[in-house]
Amino acid sequence: MAIAPIEEAKLSYILFEWVEFLVRWLHVVAGIAWIGSSFYFIALDLSLLNRKSIPKEAHGEAWQVHGGGFYQIVKYLVAPEKLPSQLTWFKWEAYATWISGFLLLILVYYISADLYMIEIEKFDISNLEAISISLIGIILGWVLYNYICKKTVNKNNIMLSIFILLVFTFFSWLYFQVFSHRGAYMQIGSMLGTIMVANVLMIIIPGQKKVVQSLLKNKKPDSIHGITAKQRSLHNNYLTLPVIFIMISNHYPTIYATDYSWIIISLIIIVGALIRQFFNIKHSGKKPPYFLWVPVFMIILVSVYLSDIGKPNLTSKDESSNLIIMKIPKDLLLASEEIIVSKCSMCHAKEPLWENMQHSPKLVNLENVNDLIKNIEGVYSQAVISYAMPPGNVTVLENSERKTLNDLYKIVKKL
Ligand code: HEC
Repeated sequence: MAIAPIEEAKLSYILFEWVEFLVRWLHVVAGIAWIGSSFYFIALDLSLLNRKSIPKEAHGEAWQVHGGGFYQIVKYLVAPEKLPSQLTWFKWEAYATWISGFLLLILVYYISADLYMIEIEKFDISNLEAISISLIGIILGWVLYNYICKKTVNKNNIMLSIFILLVFTFFSWLYFQVFSHRGAYMQIGSMLGTIMVANVLMIIIPGQKKVVQSLLKNKKPDSIHGITAKQRSLHNNYLTLPVIFIMISNHYPTIYATDYSWIIISLIIIVGALIRQFFNIKHSGKKPPYFLWVPVFMIILVSVYLSDIGKPNLTSKDESSNLIIMKIPKDLLLASEEIIVSKCSMCHAKEPLWENMQHSPKLVNLENVNDLIKNIEGVYSQAVISYAMPPGNVTVLENSERKTLNDLYKIVKKL
């Protein structure tokens, strides 16, 4: 079947989607490279053995097999006999992840701050104000974290971690009071991600550079660089899983958009750290601490419970979209309502008629004009500008009907 182009599906919109998607692609790939190499080095470090055969100033050795060849890796903590002329640094993965992530933050969140960050019922601010509050938080998060770490570098790491977790729980709560649920989630993700990259850029790499310079001059490097780098690497190690969790959660409203989603962030930070702990111990060759999966499972159950009790109270009434609805031509409104009722609502309803469907997919209800206006952006991207919905066009949504939804979208956008 030839697919007729949707009238006025603007090239600029399609181009924008492409740009956003390409940046997302880069972000995911850079993130995989970064996290992959960091997971690799942690596991490698933990598997090192101090064999007799290795050079006397070496710290440990590992043998690995991969891709048809054998690798013998030797780790030095102090100056090896001769420093090689060529050293591979691992830093661009982290930087590329941050740069593409920040671009994505601009493309998705800052450009559409009114949609994804601001919730006027919580805090009625302009886009520019929302963006400023976000940027200040990202910078402040790092400054505060860095200050706490510097003050406590030789102290108890567990107390430090608990303290940092409490500080971030406070930030999550704060941003949930200021931003929309989705905006607050991405804000915390951006703050944590920035801390991880800044740890690499401002602490770990400069420290390593100083160590290399001392070694080149045949001097004994200051041990503080090693200690700080180790502390920050440890934090990055434990933050990896929670940050990825937050980054991919934005298509799961039951996780990010309930009253207690800010607590869920902190719980997931604990879960992520416990899972990392399990694998760290396992990779070091010790008996894996299987009992750690008990608290992991229990905390996830608590999170599910929090999602449930934090969901909107459906018995309370709201009038928000009524004003908009009154300004839309009646015939267009009726035609659009008929389309969603006949082509979408068998799935997108509180009690879907679609076989085996327990609730509306992605919690998008499309049962009446109110629902339609609330979800107009989603309807536009899923059913007007693309053929994503209905899935496989099961309910045979005609192009003329997509055009009607397009007309509605344009009018709503103008209001
Ligand atoms: C046969 C069932 C079915 C029908 C009919 C259907 N949808 Fe969906 N819809 C789904 C499913 C399943 C998902 C979740 C897709 C996913 O997981 O990415 C979804 C997701 C969505 C989303 C959210 C997308 C996101 O990722 O945020 C929107 C918006 C949407 N549908 C709009 C529509 C519109 C508009 C129609 C009617 C023109 C429609 N759907 C008809 C099953 C359906």
